[in-house]
Amino acid sequence: MHVRFPGHAGDSEVEELHQLAESAGAEVCGTILGARERPDAASFVGKGKAEEIQQAVARASADLVVVNHELSPAQERNLEKVVACRVLDRTGLILDIFAQRARSHEGKLQVELAQLERLASRLVRGWTHLERQKGGIGLRGGPGETQIELDRRQIRERIKKLNERLAQVALQRRSRRRGRHKVPIPTVSMVGYTNAGKSSLFNRLTGAGVYAADQLFATLDPTMRRVELRGNTPIILADTVGFISALPHSLVEAFKSTLEEVAQADLLLHVVDSHNPEAREHIEQVNQVLNEIEAGTVAQILVYNKIDLTGQAPRIERDAAGRVHKIWLSAATGEGVELLTDALAEHYRRRRRAVALQLPPVAGRLRAAVYERFDVARETPLENGGWLIELALDPAQTAWLMQQEDFRDEYLASDSHTLLAPTGSVS
Ligand code: GTP
Repeated sequence: MHVRFPGHAGDSEVEELHQLAESAGAEVCGTILGARERPDAASFVGKGKAEEIQQAVARASADLVVVNHELSPAQERNLEKVVACRVLDRTGLILDIFAQRARSHEGKLQVELAQLERLASRLVRGWTHLERQKGGIGLRGGPGETQIELDRRQIRERIKKLNERLAQVALQRRSRRRGRHKVPIPTVSMVGYTNAGKSSLFNRLTGAGVYAADQLFATLDPTMRRVELRGNTPIILADTVGFISALPHSLVEAFKSTLEEVAQADLLLHVVDSHNPEAREHIEQVNQVLNEIEAGTVAQILVYNKIDLTGQAPRIERDAAGRVHKIWLSAATGEGVELLTDALAEHYRRRRRAVALQLPPVAGRLRAAVYERFDVARETPLENGGWLIELALDPAQTAWLMQQEDFRDEYLASDSHTLLAPTGSVS
């Protein structure tokens, strides 16, 4: 059921609802459209529409009505009474998909929490008017059959516990990230509208067998891989959950910590399905979510994927400052993917800074490792038998160097950046 409101074209939204429902494992037996000035306070869709849905449900023996909007608990209940089967709103549907796809411990906790918070306001009150069904869309994942039976107080307690555990997990993750390495390897995060091809591109770039499927939200938890760019620049590539238009705000909140990697990223690869007629709107919507999670200012390269379907040639476009900001490629055929790896290498090459290393004689292994990985500009023997090594490193390479076990802070001369000509001349 989709209701058109004034000023909303809405055809793509209906198509998307189809895909979402199928992603959740539903078989769509009919679509009902409506048009209203504003939602009906009691049932959202209005009395006449509700009766029309009821007839369609009876004809098709449907067991679920999905409404492509956010319903209040009362609206959902009132509608269920009229149509005589379960009603799920958009948030409930998306949560169900999240419940199926959550892979990390944290992601699962987040799904369960979001589901329980909905339960607290819905199921505990008016569910006696419908026969309880085992499992089913909107009921799987976190809270199961027995939990639906819990009274409100028990649900509140469980919510409190989940919140505490999530806070703990987030704390652990942050201290893990900070603790081990003072200077972390930079992260490049892939973001994009759902189904844009992020996982496919991630696979291309990493050669890792990460799950890619023609289902919305094939990815929920960020999947990370270490990748070495040309010039021996190590980065962490992170694949993230697909974004979607009108992602209910409660869900953005729920998944904020999972999306934290995005806000902390050094660079975003914003993957776009260039074959999709709605591509432009999708870019807007992804940017809106990025703003919400405070990642709006992170540098972006727009990756127009699926050129094998549009017939375009692989190419790049640079901005006024000469930086690559758009790339056309195909993750499926691999065409143009080397333009992206070149652009990534260039992004880091541009950020190289002069570094001077003062190594004592005991640091022979480190010296050899530096020679093996990087281009040394100059080496001067020191009186103590050690070496002064001058070279240009990008932030990822510096992080690598500082993570070596035999590295000591005092090896890095404090005036490092003045010893060599600034970056421009190095690349
Ligand atoms: P979510 O996890 O939903 O966010 O999806 P995603 O952005 O990770 O997309 P995924 O990589 O799963 O790809 C979605 C669909 O598009 C799959 O059926 C892919 O095979 C297909 N696909 C990805 N890249 C290309 C491409 O370059 N060309 C074509 N023709 N299909 C592609």
